[in-house]
Amino acid sequence: MARIEIFDTTLRDGEQSPGATMTPSEKLRLAQQLDALNVDIIEAGFPISSEDDFLAVSTIAREVRRPVIAGLARATTLDIDRAAAALQHADRPRLHTFLASSPIHLKHKLRIGEAECLDRVATAVAHARTLVEEVEFSPEDALRTSLPFLCRVVEVAIQAGARIINIPDTVGYAHPAQVREAIATLFRTVPGIDDVVVSVHCHNDLGLAVANSLAAIEAGARQVECTINGIGERAGNAALEEVVMALAVRHDAFQHHTGINTRELHRASQLLAYITGIQPQPNKAIVGRNAFAHEAGIHQDGVIKERSTYEIMTPELVGVPESQLVLGKHSGRNALGRRYRELGYELAEDALDRAYKLFKLLADQKKYVLDEDLISILHHGTMEDVPERFRLAALDVVCGKRQAEARTRLEDNGVPTELSVSFGDGPLAAAFAAVDALIPFQVELEDLKIQANPGGPDAVGEVNLRVKVQGKAFTGRGASPDVVVGAVRAYLHALNKAAHAQTLEAAAIEQDNYLWGV
Ligand code: KIV
Ligand code: ZN
Repeated sequence: MARIEIFDTTLRDGEQSPGATMTPSEKLRLAQQLDALNVDIIEAGFPISSEDDFLAVSTIAREVRRPVIAGLARATTLDIDRAAAALQHADRPRLHTFLASSPIHLKHKLRIGEAECLDRVATAVAHARTLVEEVEFSPEDALRTSLPFLCRVVEVAIQAGARIINIPDTVGYAHPAQVREAIATLFRTVPGIDDVVVSVHCHNDLGLAVANSLAAIEAGARQVECTINGIGERAGNAALEEVVMALAVRHDAFQHHTGINTRELHRASQLLAYITGIQPQPNKAIVGRNAFAHEAGIHQDGVIKERSTYEIMTPELVGVPESQLVLGKHSGRNALGRRYRELGYELAEDALDRAYKLFKLLADQKKYVLDEDLISILHHGTMEDVPERFRLAALDVVCGKRQAEARTRLEDNGVPTELSVSFGDGPLAAAFAAVDALIPFQVELEDLKIQANPGGPDAVGEVNLRVKVQGKAFTGRGASPDVVVGAVRAYLHALNKAAHAQTLEAAAIEQDNYLWGV
Protein backbone atom coordinates (compact mmCIF):
# COMPACT_ATOMS: atom_id res chain seq x y z
CA MET A 1 0.00 0.00 0.00
CA ALA A 2 1.48 3.34 -1.04
CA ARG A 3 0.71 6.96 -0.48
CA ILE A 4 -0.33 8.71 -3.69
CA GLU A 5 0.91 12.27 -3.87
CA ILE A 6 -1.68 14.81 -4.98
CA PHE A 7 -0.24 17.50 -7.26
CA ASP A 8 -2.85 20.20 -7.63
CA THR A 9 -2.64 22.27 -10.80
CA THR A 10 -5.85 24.29 -10.41
CA LEU A 11 -3.83 27.51 -10.31
CA ARG A 12 -1.90 26.68 -13.49
CA ASP A 13 -3.64 24.22 -15.84
CA GLY A 14 -7.01 24.95 -14.19
CA GLU A 15 -6.58 28.61 -14.86
CA GLN A 16 -6.20 27.82 -18.55
CA SER A 17 -9.92 26.99 -18.48
CA PRO A 18 -11.78 29.57 -20.58
CA GLY A 19 -12.95 32.35 -18.26
CA ALA A 20 -11.15 31.05 -15.17
CA THR A 21 -8.52 33.78 -14.95
CA MET A 22 -7.62 34.54 -11.34
CA THR A 23 -5.75 37.45 -9.82
CA PRO A 24 -2.70 36.84 -7.61
CA SER A 25 -4.67 37.43 -4.40
CA GLU A 26 -7.44 35.07 -5.52
CA LYS A 27 -4.76 32.49 -6.23
CA LEU A 28 -3.25 33.02 -2.81
CA ARG A 29 -6.63 32.50 -1.15
CA LEU A 30 -7.15 29.31 -3.12
CA ALA A 31 -3.62 28.11 -2.34
CA GLN A 32 -4.42 28.52 1.37
CA GLN A 33 -7.48 26.34 0.89
CA LEU A 34 -5.40 23.76 -1.01
CA ASP A 35 -3.07 23.79 1.98
CA ALA A 36 -6.05 23.12 4.28
CA LEU A 37 -7.00 20.28 1.96
CA ASN A 38 -3.48 18.92 2.56
CA VAL A 39 -2.46 18.57 -1.10
CA ASP A 40 1.18 17.55 -1.45
CA ILE A 41 2.17 19.88 -4.28
CA ILE A 42 0.63 23.13 -5.52
CA GLU A 43 1.52 24.14 -9.06
CA ALA A 44 1.10 27.85 -8.52
CA GLY A 45 1.56 29.08 -12.08
CA PHE A 46 3.70 29.58 -15.15
CA PRO A 47 5.94 32.46 -14.08
CA ILE A 48 7.15 33.59 -17.50
CA SER A 49 3.63 33.78 -18.91
CA SER A 50 2.78 37.11 -17.26
CA GLU A 51 3.77 39.51 -14.52
CA ASP A 52 0.67 38.45 -12.60
CA ASP A 53 1.63 34.79 -12.76
CA PHE A 54 5.15 35.57 -11.59
CA LEU A 55 3.68 37.53 -8.69
CA ALA A 56 1.22 34.76 -7.85
CA VAL A 57 3.92 32.08 -7.76
CA SER A 58 6.33 34.18 -5.72
CA THR A 59 3.63 35.24 -3.24
CA ILE A 60 2.40 31.68 -2.75
CA ALA A 61 6.00 30.46 -2.42
CA ARG A 62 6.54 32.99 0.35
CA GLU A 63 3.25 32.55 2.19
CA VAL A 64 2.23 28.91 1.85
CA ARG A 65 4.96 26.95 3.59
CA ARG A 66 3.86 23.34 4.07
CA PRO A 67 3.28 21.96 0.54
CA VAL A 68 5.83 21.79 -2.23
CA ILE A 69 5.32 24.80 -4.52
CA ALA A 70 5.87 24.16 -8.21
CA GLY A 71 6.34 26.60 -11.07
CA LEU A 72 6.06 25.63 -14.73
CA ALA A 73 8.66 26.41 -17.40
CA ARG A 74 9.13 25.44 -21.01
CA ALA A 75 12.47 23.77 -21.73
CA THR A 76 14.33 27.02 -22.29
CA THR A 77 16.89 28.83 -20.15
CA LEU A 78 14.78 31.99 -20.02
CA ASP A 79 11.66 30.17 -18.81
CA ILE A 80 13.57 28.10 -16.28
CA ASP A 81 15.41 31.12 -14.84
CA ARG A 82 12.15 32.99 -14.47
CA ALA A 83 10.45 30.05 -12.74
CA ALA A 84 13.41 29.59 -10.39
CA ALA A 85 13.32 33.30 -9.52
CA ALA A 86 9.61 33.08 -8.68
CA LEU A 87 10.25 30.05 -6.46
CA GLN A 88 13.27 31.42 -4.64
CA HIS A 89 11.49 32.00 -1.31
CA ALA A 90 9.72 28.63 -1.21
CA ASP A 91 10.67 26.23 1.58
CA ARG A 92 10.18 23.32 -0.81
CA PRO A 93 10.42 24.53 -4.42
CA ARG A 94 9.89 22.34 -7.46
CA LEU A 95 10.69 23.36 -11.00
CA HIS A 96 8.46 21.67 -13.55
CA THR A 97 9.80 21.82 -17.08
CA PHE A 98 8.27 20.30 -20.20
CA LEU A 99 8.96 19.63 -23.85
CA ALA A 100 6.73 17.88 -26.37
CA SER A 101 7.80 14.42 -27.52
CA SER A 102 5.03 13.25 -29.88
CA PRO A 103 5.71 13.17 -33.64
CA ILE A 104 2.81 15.59 -34.27
CA HIS A 105 4.25 18.17 -31.87
CA LEU A 106 7.87 17.66 -32.97
CA LYS A 107 6.97 18.06 -36.63
CA HIS A 108 4.36 20.80 -36.60
CA LYS A 109 4.89 22.78 -33.42
CA LEU A 110 8.58 22.56 -32.55
CA ARG A 111 9.85 21.66 -36.06
CA ILE A 112 12.68 19.60 -34.67
CA GLY A 113 13.74 15.96 -34.92
CA GLU A 114 14.03 13.39 -32.16
CA ALA A 115 17.76 13.96 -31.61
CA GLU A 116 17.23 17.68 -31.06
CA CYS A 117 14.35 16.90 -28.70
CA LEU A 118 16.59 14.67 -26.57
CA ASP A 119 19.31 17.34 -26.53
CA ARG A 120 16.87 20.00 -25.38
CA VAL A 121 15.51 17.77 -22.62
CA ALA A 122 19.01 17.03 -21.31
CA THR A 123 20.04 20.70 -21.40
CA ALA A 124 16.86 22.02 -19.81
CA VAL A 125 16.74 19.51 -16.97
CA ALA A 126 20.44 19.88 -16.24
CA HIS A 127 20.10 23.66 -16.19
CA ALA A 128 17.04 23.48 -13.93
CA ARG A 129 18.99 21.24 -11.53
CA THR A 130 21.66 23.93 -11.14
CA LEU A 131 18.93 26.20 -9.73
CA VAL A 132 16.47 23.93 -7.90
CA GLU A 133 17.00 20.50 -6.29
CA GLU A 134 13.62 19.07 -7.16
CA VAL A 135 13.03 19.04 -10.90
CA GLU A 136 10.02 17.49 -12.61
CA PHE A 137 10.04 16.76 -16.31
CA SER A 138 6.99 16.21 -18.55
CA PRO A 139 7.19 14.93 -22.14
CA GLU A 140 4.18 16.86 -23.43
CA ASP A 141 1.71 14.74 -25.42
CA ALA A 142 3.45 11.65 -24.01
CA LEU A 143 0.56 9.34 -24.77
CA ARG A 144 0.74 10.05 -28.50
CA THR A 145 4.49 9.37 -28.48
CA SER A 146 5.81 5.95 -29.55
CA LEU A 147 6.72 3.94 -26.48
CA PRO A 148 10.39 3.38 -27.49
CA PHE A 149 10.93 7.12 -27.97
CA LEU A 150 9.02 7.97 -24.80
CA CYS A 151 11.32 5.62 -22.90
CA ARG A 152 14.38 7.35 -24.43
CA VAL A 153 13.11 10.82 -23.47
CA VAL A 154 12.38 9.70 -19.92
CA GLU A 155 15.79 8.04 -19.62
CA VAL A 156 17.55 11.23 -20.77
CA ALA A 157 15.53 13.35 -18.32
CA ILE A 158 16.43 11.01 -15.44
CA GLN A 159 20.12 11.01 -16.40
CA ALA A 160 20.06 14.83 -16.46
CA GLY A 161 18.70 14.90 -12.91
CA ALA A 162 14.88 14.88 -13.03
CA ARG A 163 13.42 13.47 -9.81
CA ILE A 164 9.81 13.31 -10.97
CA ILE A 165 8.73 12.07 -14.38
CA ASN A 166 5.23 13.16 -15.30
CA ILE A 167 3.36 11.47 -18.14
CA PRO A 168 0.76 13.85 -19.60
CA ASP A 169 -2.15 12.85 -21.77
CA THR A 170 -2.16 16.38 -23.10
CA VAL A 171 -5.08 16.02 -25.48
CA GLY A 172 -7.16 13.51 -23.50
CA TYR A 173 -6.75 10.83 -26.16
CA ALA A 174 -5.62 7.83 -24.13
CA HIS A 175 -7.70 5.04 -22.63
CA PRO A 176 -7.07 3.16 -19.38
CA ALA A 177 -5.47 0.02 -20.85
CA GLN A 178 -3.10 2.18 -22.91
CA VAL A 179 -2.09 4.26 -19.88
CA ARG A 180 -1.48 1.09 -17.85
CA GLU A 181 0.69 -0.30 -20.65
CA ALA A 182 2.69 2.93 -21.07
CA ILE A 183 3.49 3.24 -17.36
CA ALA A 184 4.29 -0.46 -17.06
CA THR A 185 6.65 -0.22 -20.06
CA LEU A 186 8.51 2.69 -18.46
CA PHE A 187 8.97 0.64 -15.28
CA ARG A 188 10.11 -2.37 -17.28
CA THR A 189 12.62 -0.66 -19.53
CA VAL A 190 13.94 2.71 -18.37
CA PRO A 191 17.15 2.59 -16.31
CA GLY A 192 16.83 4.54 -13.07
CA ILE A 193 13.01 4.68 -13.18
CA ASP A 194 12.73 3.10 -9.73
CA ASP A 195 14.63 6.02 -8.22
CA VAL A 196 12.17 8.68 -9.42
CA VAL A 197 8.51 9.37 -8.77
CA VAL A 198 6.34 8.57 -11.77
CA SER A 199 3.37 10.88 -12.16
CA VAL A 200 0.36 11.12 -14.45
CA HIS A 201 -1.48 14.16 -15.83
CA CYS A 202 -4.71 13.42 -17.72
CA HIS A 203 -7.01 15.69 -19.69
CA ASN A 204 -10.68 14.91 -20.00
CA ASP A 205 -11.50 15.27 -23.71
CA LEU A 206 -13.07 11.81 -23.81
CA GLY A 207 -14.30 11.95 -20.22
CA LEU A 208 -11.60 9.44 -19.22
CA ALA A 209 -9.23 11.63 -17.18
CA VAL A 210 -10.05 10.11 -13.80
CA ALA A 211 -10.20 6.53 -15.12
CA ASN A 212 -6.84 7.04 -16.85
CA SER A 213 -5.29 8.49 -13.68
CA LEU A 214 -6.47 5.46 -11.67
CA ALA A 215 -5.10 3.12 -14.34
CA ALA A 216 -1.71 4.84 -14.05
CA ILE A 217 -1.79 4.32 -10.28
CA GLU A 218 -2.51 0.63 -10.81
CA ALA A 219 0.56 0.44 -13.03
CA GLY A 220 2.83 2.12 -10.46
CA ALA A 221 2.39 5.91 -10.75
CA ARG A 222 2.67 7.53 -7.34
CA GLN A 223 1.72 11.12 -8.15
CA VAL A 224 -1.49 12.35 -9.78
CA GLU A 225 -1.86 15.81 -11.30
CA CYS A 226 -5.40 17.10 -11.05
CA THR A 227 -7.59 20.15 -10.45
CA ILE A 228 -10.48 21.11 -8.20
CA ASN A 229 -13.83 20.60 -9.97
CA GLY A 230 -11.81 19.17 -12.88
CA ILE A 231 -11.36 22.61 -14.44
CA GLY A 232 -8.68 23.11 -17.06
CA GLU A 233 -7.83 23.56 -20.69
CA ARG A 234 -10.77 22.51 -22.98
CA ALA A 235 -12.72 19.69 -21.27
CA GLY A 236 -10.53 20.06 -18.19
CA ASN A 237 -8.18 17.90 -16.14
CA ALA A 238 -8.76 14.91 -13.89
CA ALA A 239 -10.94 16.11 -11.01
CA LEU A 240 -9.01 16.01 -7.74
CA GLU A 241 -12.08 15.21 -5.64
CA GLU A 242 -12.99 12.26 -7.87
CA VAL A 243 -9.51 10.72 -7.85
CA VAL A 244 -9.22 11.16 -4.09
CA MET A 245 -12.66 9.76 -3.27
CA ALA A 246 -12.26 6.85 -5.69
CA LEU A 247 -9.10 5.87 -3.83
CA ALA A 248 -10.78 6.39 -0.46
CA VAL A 249 -14.14 4.72 -1.12
CA ARG A 250 -12.69 1.87 -3.22
CA HIS A 251 -9.67 1.23 -1.07
CA ASP A 252 -10.54 -2.44 -1.41
CA ALA A 253 -9.82 -2.21 -5.15
CA PHE A 254 -6.92 0.26 -5.33
CA GLN A 255 -5.21 -0.36 -1.96
CA HIS A 256 -3.53 3.05 -1.91
CA HIS A 257 -4.30 6.20 0.01
CA THR A 258 -3.75 9.98 -0.19
CA GLY A 259 -3.08 12.51 2.54
CA ILE A 260 -6.10 14.62 1.54
CA ASN A 261 -8.39 15.95 4.25
CA THR A 262 -11.57 15.01 2.42
CA ARG A 263 -13.72 17.18 4.69
CA GLU A 264 -12.24 20.23 2.95
CA LEU A 265 -13.26 19.12 -0.56
CA HIS A 266 -16.64 20.81 -0.64
CA ARG A 267 -15.21 24.08 0.65
CA ALA A 268 -12.40 24.02 -1.93
CA SER A 269 -14.93 23.42 -4.70
CA GLN A 270 -17.17 26.25 -3.51
CA LEU A 271 -14.29 28.67 -3.16
CA LEU A 272 -13.08 27.97 -6.68
CA ALA A 273 -16.61 28.35 -8.06
CA TYR A 274 -16.97 31.63 -6.18
CA ILE A 275 -13.68 33.00 -7.48
CA THR A 276 -14.09 31.97 -11.11
CA GLY A 277 -17.89 32.15 -11.37
CA ILE A 278 -17.79 28.64 -12.87
CA GLN A 279 -20.14 26.39 -10.91
CA PRO A 280 -19.66 22.64 -11.21
CA GLN A 281 -22.52 20.99 -13.09
CA PRO A 282 -25.31 19.95 -10.66
CA ASN A 283 -24.72 16.23 -11.25
CA LYS A 284 -20.92 16.51 -10.90
CA ALA A 285 -19.58 13.65 -8.78
CA ILE A 286 -18.66 14.54 -5.16
CA VAL A 287 -19.16 18.33 -5.34
CA GLY A 288 -22.20 18.92 -7.58
CA ARG A 289 -25.36 20.31 -5.95
CA ASN A 290 -27.17 17.01 -6.57
CA ALA A 291 -24.32 14.67 -5.66
CA PHE A 292 -26.06 13.70 -2.41
CA ALA A 293 -29.66 14.53 -3.29
CA HIS A 294 -32.13 11.65 -3.32
CA GLU A 295 -35.14 12.55 -5.40
CA ALA A 296 -37.01 9.30 -6.06
CA GLY A 297 -39.36 8.20 -3.31
CA ILE A 298 -37.89 4.70 -3.29
CA HIS A 299 -34.41 6.10 -2.75
CA GLN A 300 -35.53 8.52 -0.05
CA ASP A 301 -37.26 5.71 1.75
CA GLY A 302 -34.16 3.54 1.49
CA VAL A 303 -31.84 6.26 2.77
CA ILE A 304 -34.11 7.00 5.73
CA LYS A 305 -34.10 3.32 6.68
CA GLU A 306 -30.38 2.78 6.09
CA ARG A 307 -28.09 5.32 4.44
CA SER A 308 -25.85 2.78 2.80
CA THR A 309 -28.74 1.55 0.61
CA TYR A 310 -28.14 4.41 -1.82
CA GLU A 311 -25.10 6.26 -0.41
CA ILE A 312 -21.58 5.00 -1.01
CA MET A 313 -20.10 7.84 1.05
CA THR A 314 -21.62 10.34 3.43
CA PRO A 315 -21.91 14.05 2.55
CA GLU A 316 -20.07 14.82 5.81
CA LEU A 317 -17.04 12.91 4.59
CA VAL A 318 -16.52 15.44 1.80
CA GLY A 319 -17.49 18.43 3.94
CA VAL A 320 -21.03 19.17 2.75
CA PRO A 321 -22.64 21.14 5.61
CA GLU A 322 -25.36 19.15 7.31
CA SER A 323 -28.28 21.54 7.09
CA GLN A 324 -29.29 24.91 5.75
CA LEU A 325 -29.74 27.27 8.67
CA VAL A 326 -31.45 30.55 8.01
CA LEU A 327 -30.31 33.68 9.78
CA GLY A 328 -32.21 36.98 9.78
CA LYS A 329 -31.93 40.52 11.04
CA HIS A 330 -32.53 39.49 14.65
CA SER A 331 -29.68 37.02 14.65
CA GLY A 332 -26.77 38.10 16.79
CA ARG A 333 -23.01 38.09 16.37
CA ASN A 334 -22.67 34.81 18.30
CA ALA A 335 -25.19 33.02 16.09
CA LEU A 336 -23.30 34.27 13.06
CA GLY A 337 -19.97 33.08 14.45
CA ARG A 338 -21.50 29.70 15.30
CA ARG A 339 -22.90 29.27 11.78
CA TYR A 340 -19.55 30.16 10.25
CA ARG A 341 -17.96 27.54 12.48
CA GLU A 342 -20.52 24.96 11.32
CA LEU A 343 -19.67 25.87 7.76
CA GLY A 344 -16.02 25.29 8.61
CA TYR A 345 -14.76 28.87 8.92
CA GLU A 346 -13.10 29.74 12.21
CA LEU A 347 -13.15 33.55 12.14
CA ALA A 348 -10.81 35.74 14.18
CA GLU A 349 -12.52 38.52 16.17
CA ASP A 350 -11.85 41.27 13.62
CA ALA A 351 -12.98 39.11 10.69
CA LEU A 352 -16.19 38.27 12.55
CA ASP A 353 -16.76 41.97 13.30
CA ARG A 354 -16.42 42.84 9.65
CA ALA A 355 -18.63 39.95 8.56
CA TYR A 356 -21.23 40.92 11.14
CA LYS A 357 -21.39 44.50 9.83
CA LEU A 358 -21.96 43.26 6.28
CA PHE A 359 -24.45 40.68 7.54
CA LYS A 360 -26.51 43.40 9.27
CA LEU A 361 -26.58 45.52 6.10
CA LEU A 362 -27.75 42.52 4.10
CA ALA A 363 -30.29 41.39 6.70
CA ASP A 364 -31.89 44.83 6.48
CA GLN A 365 -32.44 44.29 2.78
CA LYS A 366 -33.56 40.67 2.73
CA LYS A 367 -35.56 38.54 5.09
CA TYR A 368 -33.44 35.41 5.19
CA VAL A 369 -29.68 35.29 4.98
CA LEU A 370 -28.59 31.89 3.68
CA ASP A 371 -25.31 29.98 3.85
CA GLU A 372 -24.45 31.10 0.32
CA ASP A 373 -24.93 34.72 1.40
CA LEU A 374 -22.65 34.17 4.39
CA ILE A 375 -19.94 32.80 2.13
CA SER A 376 -20.34 35.79 -0.21
CA ILE A 377 -20.07 38.11 2.79
CA LEU A 378 -16.96 36.40 3.98
CA HIS A 379 -15.16 36.76 0.70
CA HIS A 380 -16.52 40.21 -0.03
CA GLY A 381 -13.57 42.46 0.52
CA THR A 382 -11.17 39.77 1.71
CA MET A 383 -9.79 39.21 -1.76
CA GLU A 384 -9.56 42.85 -2.65
CA ASP A 385 -7.28 41.76 -5.37
CA VAL A 386 -6.79 44.98 -7.24
CA PRO A 387 -6.84 48.65 -6.31
CA GLU A 388 -10.37 49.97 -6.62
CA ARG A 389 -9.76 52.72 -9.13
CA PHE A 390 -13.42 52.89 -10.20
CA ARG A 391 -16.14 52.84 -7.57
CA LEU A 392 -19.89 53.11 -7.99
CA ALA A 393 -21.05 56.42 -6.46
CA ALA A 394 -24.66 56.52 -7.69
CA LEU A 395 -26.95 54.48 -9.91
CA ASP A 396 -30.60 55.02 -10.84
CA VAL A 397 -32.30 52.92 -13.46
CA VAL A 398 -35.78 53.34 -14.87
CA CYS A 399 -37.16 50.51 -16.92
CA GLY A 400 -40.46 49.28 -18.23
CA LYS A 401 -41.92 48.68 -21.65
CA ARG A 402 -39.81 51.26 -23.42
CA GLN A 403 -36.04 51.57 -23.46
CA ALA A 404 -34.40 51.53 -20.04
CA GLU A 405 -32.61 54.65 -18.83
CA ALA A 406 -29.63 54.59 -16.46
CA ARG A 407 -28.01 57.50 -14.64
CA THR A 408 -24.74 56.81 -12.98
CA ARG A 409 -21.81 58.50 -11.37
CA LEU A 410 -18.50 56.86 -10.51
CA GLU A 411 -15.50 57.81 -8.45
CA ASP A 412 -12.29 57.55 -10.45
CA ASN A 413 -9.38 57.31 -7.99
CA GLY A 414 -11.59 58.98 -5.39
CA VAL A 415 -12.60 61.86 -7.67
CA PRO A 416 -16.33 62.04 -8.55
CA THR A 417 -17.02 61.84 -12.27
CA GLU A 418 -19.76 63.73 -14.07
CA LEU A 419 -23.24 62.19 -14.22
CA SER A 420 -23.66 59.87 -17.17
CA VAL A 421 -27.08 59.15 -18.70
CA SER A 422 -27.54 56.27 -21.12
CA PHE A 423 -30.28 54.17 -22.66
CA GLY A 424 -30.44 50.50 -23.55
CA ASP A 425 -32.72 47.61 -24.40
CA GLY A 426 -32.79 46.57 -20.80
CA PRO A 427 -31.57 47.85 -17.41
CA LEU A 428 -28.21 46.10 -17.60
CA ALA A 429 -27.45 47.36 -21.11
CA ALA A 430 -28.37 50.91 -20.06
CA ALA A 431 -26.30 50.72 -16.86
CA PHE A 432 -23.22 49.31 -18.61
CA ALA A 433 -23.50 51.95 -21.35
CA ALA A 434 -23.63 54.68 -18.69
CA VAL A 435 -20.46 53.26 -17.09
CA ASP A 436 -18.75 52.93 -20.50
CA ALA A 437 -19.19 56.65 -21.08
CA LEU A 438 -17.14 57.36 -17.93
CA ILE A 439 -14.12 55.12 -18.40
CA PRO A 440 -11.09 55.52 -20.62
CA PHE A 441 -11.21 52.20 -22.47
CA GLN A 442 -13.38 50.20 -24.86
CA VAL A 443 -15.08 47.28 -23.20
CA GLU A 444 -16.65 44.23 -24.82
CA LEU A 445 -18.97 42.19 -22.61
CA GLU A 446 -18.34 38.50 -23.40
CA ASP A 447 -20.30 36.60 -20.84
CA LEU A 448 -22.65 37.32 -17.96
CA LYS A 449 -24.25 34.95 -15.48
CA ILE A 450 -26.74 35.84 -12.80
CA GLN A 451 -27.39 33.45 -10.01
CA ALA A 452 -29.94 34.09 -7.29
CA ASN A 453 -29.26 32.41 -3.98
CA PRO A 454 -32.51 30.66 -3.10
CA GLY A 455 -34.89 32.67 -0.91
CA GLY A 456 -37.64 34.35 -2.93
CA PRO A 457 -37.90 37.85 -4.37
CA ASP A 458 -35.36 39.34 -1.96
CA ALA A 459 -32.70 36.77 -2.90
CA VAL A 460 -29.18 38.11 -3.34
CA GLY A 461 -28.25 38.13 -7.00
CA GLU A 462 -24.66 37.11 -7.65
CA VAL A 463 -23.32 38.27 -10.96
CA ASN A 464 -20.25 36.85 -12.65
CA LEU A 465 -19.13 38.26 -15.94
CA ARG A 466 -16.24 38.39 -18.35
CA VAL A 467 -15.20 41.39 -20.42
CA LYS A 468 -12.51 41.97 -22.99
CA VAL A 469 -10.42 45.11 -22.82
CA GLN A 470 -7.80 45.55 -25.55
CA GLY A 471 -7.95 41.85 -26.42
CA LYS A 472 -7.50 40.60 -22.85
CA ALA A 473 -10.17 38.87 -20.79
CA PHE A 474 -11.01 39.94 -17.23
CA THR A 475 -13.58 38.43 -14.92
CA GLY A 476 -15.63 40.34 -12.38
CA ARG A 477 -18.17 39.49 -9.72
CA GLY A 478 -20.62 41.46 -7.66
CA ALA A 479 -23.53 40.69 -5.40
CA SER A 480 -26.55 42.65 -4.23
CA PRO A 481 -30.26 42.10 -3.60
CA ASP A 482 -30.64 44.53 -6.54
CA VAL A 483 -29.33 42.58 -9.49
CA VAL A 484 -28.54 45.71 -11.57
CA VAL A 485 -26.36 47.05 -8.75
CA GLY A 486 -24.73 43.59 -8.46
CA ALA A 487 -24.05 43.58 -12.20
CA VAL A 488 -22.52 47.06 -12.21
CA ARG A 489 -20.32 46.08 -9.25
CA ALA A 490 -19.19 43.01 -11.19
CA TYR A 491 -18.53 45.18 -14.26
CA LEU A 492 -16.44 47.62 -12.23
CA HIS A 493 -14.58 44.74 -10.57
CA ALA A 494 -13.51 43.52 -14.03
CA LEU A 495 -12.64 47.07 -15.16
CA ASN A 496 -10.52 47.61 -12.06
CA LYS A 497 -8.60 44.45 -12.97
CA ALA A 498 -8.13 45.79 -16.50
CA ALA A 499 -6.88 49.12 -15.19
CA HIS A 500 -4.49 47.34 -12.81
CA ALA A 501 -3.20 45.07 -15.59
CA GLN A 502 -2.48 48.13 -17.74
CA THR A 503 -0.48 49.68 -14.91
CA LEU A 504 1.53 46.47 -14.40
CA GLU A 505 2.10 46.10 -18.10
CA ALA A 506 3.35 49.65 -18.44
CA ALA A 507 5.80 48.98 -15.60
CA ALA A 508 6.96 45.73 -17.24
CA ILE A 509 7.49 47.35 -20.63
CA GLU A 510 9.56 49.99 -18.90
CA GLN A 511 11.77 47.19 -17.55
CA ASP A 512 11.87 45.68 -21.03
CA ASN A 513 10.01 42.66 -19.71
CA TYR A 514 8.01 41.15 -22.53
CA LEU A 515 4.78 39.36 -21.56
CA TRP A 516 4.76 35.87 -23.00
CA GLY A 517 1.68 34.13 -24.27
CA VAL A 518 0.96 30.70 -22.77
O1 KIV B 1 -1.27 18.86 -20.51
C1 KIV B 1 -0.03 19.00 -20.51
O2 KIV B 1 0.71 18.39 -21.28
C2 KIV B 1 0.51 19.93 -19.54
C3 KIV B 1 1.99 19.87 -19.33
C4 KIV B 1 2.58 21.23 -19.23
C5 KIV B 1 2.29 19.03 -18.13
O3 KIV B 1 -0.21 20.64 -18.89
ZN1 ZN C 1 -2.30 19.84 -18.91
